[in-house]
Amino acid sequence: MEFDFTQLEPESRYRLLTNFIGPRPIALVTTRSEAGHNNAAPMSFFNVFSHDPPIVVLGIQPRPSGEEKDTMANIRRTQEFAISMVDMAISQHMLVCGLGFDNEIDELSMAGLTAKTCSKIDASYPAEAPCVFECRVERLIDYPRRTLVLGEVVQMHVRRECLDEQGRYVDPERYQPIARLHADNYITSDRQFVLTAPPIADFIKPQVK
Ligand SMILES: Cc1cc2nc3c(=O)[nH]c(=O)nc-3n(C[C@H](O)[C@H](O)[C@H](O)COP(=O)(O)O)c2cc1C
Repeated sequence: MEFDFTQLEPESRYRLLTNFIGPRPIALVTTRSEAGHNNAAPMSFFNVFSHDPPIVVLGIQPRPSGEEKDTMANIRRTQEFAISMVDMAISQHMLVCGLGFDNEIDELSMAGLTAKTCSKIDASYPAEAPCVFECRVERLIDYPRRTLVLGEVVQMHVRRECLDEQGRYVDPERYQPIARLHADNYITSDRQFVLTAPPIADFIKPQVK
């Protein structure tokens, strides 16, 4: 089948993009509300796009009513947010954070997560998360029905056991984030494998002189 994206209506574009571009990592985004409450929401329009500068990107769409989500309103106001990666242990908590609570509700506590204060930004993150990135807004790109949030990572917290002995690389047995496939389908990274590229010389014939 062929789909002409220039002719498709938004619902079909959403369905096809999210069904086929995956698995997508999940950012549990925490922000501070105007009244000082912890707001938390999962976002799977999320990834890292650069290490120098260290830039992550979120795609946040408005509610069906057209109103901005609390996460977006808080990021616009404070210019700060934290991203927690999600593993199986906090997968149910993450879903609770995705429910449409009023902005005066402390969503970390509602989801049964323990709030820990960030070190460089005014937000908290769930202590149960395997790793967390504190971010400041680098720029916002506003489209009529979505805002792309480019965030610069200013601090990372990672549970010691998720790293190898030297504290340099990830321990794949201990750090196993989940990711979103389509609709309510998710995948966890508990079946990792090593894929090594062959040497380029295997593909280049020696030149006969
Ligand atoms: C796994 C998952 C991924 C989601 N990804 C996004 C996303 O990328 N962008 C978005 O706008 N909403 C996304 N949502 C929906 C928001 O989390 C949801 O609308 C939430 O209630 C927003 O909360 P807030 O008003 O506190 O910001 C996702 C929900 C789930 C469960």
